[in-house]
Amino acid sequence: MRLLILKPKKKFVKELDREVVLAKLKKMYVDDISKDFSTKYGIISKKDLKKKSGSVVKSSMGKEFVILDPDFIDLYKRIKRTSQIMTLKDIGYIAAAAGINKKSKVVDAGTGPGGNAIYLAHICKEVYSYDINEENVNVARENAKALGMKNLKIRNKSIFSGIEEKDIDLVVLDLPTPWNAVKSVEKSLKTGGYLVVYNPQITQTAEFVNTISENKKFIHEKTTELIERNWKIDGKVVRPRSGGIGHTGFLSFVRKVQ
Ligand SMILES: C[S@@+](CC[C@H](N)C(=O)[O-])C[C@H]1O[C@@H](n2cnc3c(N)ncnc32)[C@H](O)[C@@H]1O
Repeated sequence: MRLLILKPKKKFVKELDREVVLAKLKKMYVDDISKDFSTKYGIISKKDLKKKSGSVVKSSMGKEFVILDPDFIDLYKRIKRTSQIMTLKDIGYIAAAAGINKKSKVVDAGTGPGGNAIYLAHICKEVYSYDINEENVNVARENAKALGMKNLKIRNKSIFSGIEEKDIDLVVLDLPTPWNAVKSVEKSLKTGGYLVVYNPQITQTAEFVNTISENKKFIHEKTTELIERNWKIDGKVVRPRSGGIGHTGFLSFVRKVQ
């Protein structure tokens, strides 16, 4: 597979006294490089599709593309989705705040299409992911296979009925009633390990935090929300972009202390 990036192009227009955008940055994935690739910006020949990563190639309409070998993140962004996956800003913060690394063992539920599980498997030693929905499990397994994740095991069972793995460094829960998983997590998480609950609703977040706060084995460290704001920077136009990612979910960090 190859990744084609249409090079953005600007031109200074004297009458307007500013640059105007002639072509916006665009990414395209080419699965079959044995034939010419057609885009609305012209055709890229199969000969050009085979050029080495970093080559600049021209379409039949004269548009310039950079050709790259896709990286993990390029393939990750193409995973099949059956439900909402957690965003990179939330996954990245969980990984950083829980301090996980290539020696870490992680449990995740529900798997969904595998957004969080696959990304964490990219960073950690082992990830075990639980989901009750067979369709999601099948899609997540397909996605994990497409990304070559050999350290991710997906189990088609409810996390409420127990976690098979012990001495776990981090458990991430993204399901509607996380308080029902506390007993399972208690037995599986190592002392000092983190339980992180992701939930889009503040009412469910509060119910979880109030439940866990009564359990002496855990300390609720914080509940937080991350807002990602992108900026438009174009000559003298420097301002936050409208749109972008607003609210995704609340993250509750809980540490097992006994
Ligand atoms: C929003 S999706 C999770 C998305 C996932 N975190 C990701 O990043 O791709 C919620 C999932 O929780 C699963 N689920 C609900 N209750 C569950 C339970 N008791 N045990 C395991 N999975 C459960 C659902 O089947 C659904 O697939």
